[in-house]
Amino acid sequence: MIKVAPSILSANFAHLADDVKAVEKAGADYIHVDVMDGHFVPNITFGALAVKAIRPVTDLPLDVHLMIENPDQYIGEFAKAGADIISVHAEACTHLHRTIGYIKEQGVKAGVVLNPATSAESIRHVIENVDLVLVMTVNPGFGGQAFIHGMLQKIREIRQMADEMGLSIEIEVDGGVNAETAALCREAGADVLVAGSAIYGKKDLKDAITSIRGV
Ligand code: DX5
Ligand code: ZN
Repeated sequence: MIKVAPSILSANFAHLADDVKAVEKAGADYIHVDVMDGHFVPNITFGALAVKAIRPVTDLPLDVHLMIENPDQYIGEFAKAGADIISVHAEACTHLHRTIGYIKEQGVKAGVVLNPATSAESIRHVIENVDLVLVMTVNPGFGGQAFIHGMLQKIREIRQMADEMGLSIEIEVDGGVNAETAALCREAGADVLVAGSAIYGKKDLKDAITSIRGV
């Protein structure tokens, strides 16, 4: 069963608790938390304090996507704040293998994220150390951008790599996911679909989540 992870980037920040509870009730599997620092990406959102504030509001796993420079410095804080999965960008980590080890030492699941320009091949030597690979299907920084179709091939390549190595990692896709592009991602081998505007932009959250999951 495909998992759906609503991104609270598209929620109403003044009513975050309500918006988190609403997607939980509507059948979400993870809460996707987009952390942006204004350096790695050209936008600023929130930090570990927001994760800490959301933690008691939901029983769902908090899937924290760090779009920040120097993630090593903040991983401990996000783990302590209640993150269940912490994903770092391959492009932001000079010593990616060490950073992944550091995330796991905190007792949380580790994910690695690939920008559109980064190849599947670039994570061949760390894929067996992660719990999740997040394939960006937009350039990170903003919600509501158009899905880059060329990334479907990358999803297939990572699926194949994981299958050949006998790994049970999750492949997550983030950016421009809606009912139509979700079907393409599922076909390419995705396990977890992140969606911001295609969920929070809809009146019927349950219907939005169901159409992305495809069942
Ligand atoms: C983009 C973020 C995404 C974003 C997706 O930088 O990582 O999680 O919220 O938004 P949509 O689904 O609207 O493309
Ligand atoms: Zn994200």
